Amino acid sequence: MPHEPNDALRTRIKEELPEVEAIADAALRQGVIEAWVLALSRSSFRSIREIPPSGNPGSMTLIRGDQTDHIRGVTRLAMRMAQEMAASNPDMAIDQDVVVAGGLCHDVGKPWEFDPENRRRWEAAPRANGLPSIRHPAYGVHLCLSAGLPESVAHIAGAHSGEGELLVRSLECTIVHLADIGYWTMALAGGLIRPETVSSKYRRPLVM
Ligand SMILES: [Fe+2]
Repeated sequence: MPHEPNDALRTRIKEELPEVEAIADAALRQGVIEAWVLALSRSSFRSIREIPPSGNPGSMTLIRGDQTDHIRGVTRLAMRMAQEMAASNPDMAIDQDVVVAGGLCHDVGKPWEFDPENRRRWEAAPRANGLPSIRHPAYGVHLCLSAGLPESVAHIAGAHSGEGELLVRSLECTIVHLADIGYWTMALAGGLIRPETVSSKYRRPLVM
């Protein structure tokens, strides 16, 4: 059920995603908050912490923690990879602000894809409505552009996952994509994922 965007929601998002303070550009910082305000206020979730801690609905679910642990973890991994590559390769032009904003917004479409009301509608009639109708990367592009974020950040929301295999990812999108894959792969190796939710692409190939 959608709800009114207000300052309490803005404050909660800033508390839930403190890495937003690492963005130097004030307009970009504000855009990240507004994208999440739109995402939550148009969903049944009042907080990012209420979103189940999964990669996709029902798959790759963390044993402990919540969705902020994933989003913040991916953002910090991406920031560290970007800083290392920039420090050791001065010719590599990495926009650190776009890496942070992209990390924080890469899953901004999840409130839509994970919303229990949407899931009930889609699961009741997949051939009428789609299942899901729109995945979180595509819906994330809609939110980023609606919030006034630049194309570079919307591109990361849209192409961080499998959709990015259909195009050429930007440097910053490549970094966030690798941080996202790295997060789930390391979480699985470290015993942080509920075994019954491990998706097939992370399972060991069968020896025939
Ligand atoms: Fe993610």
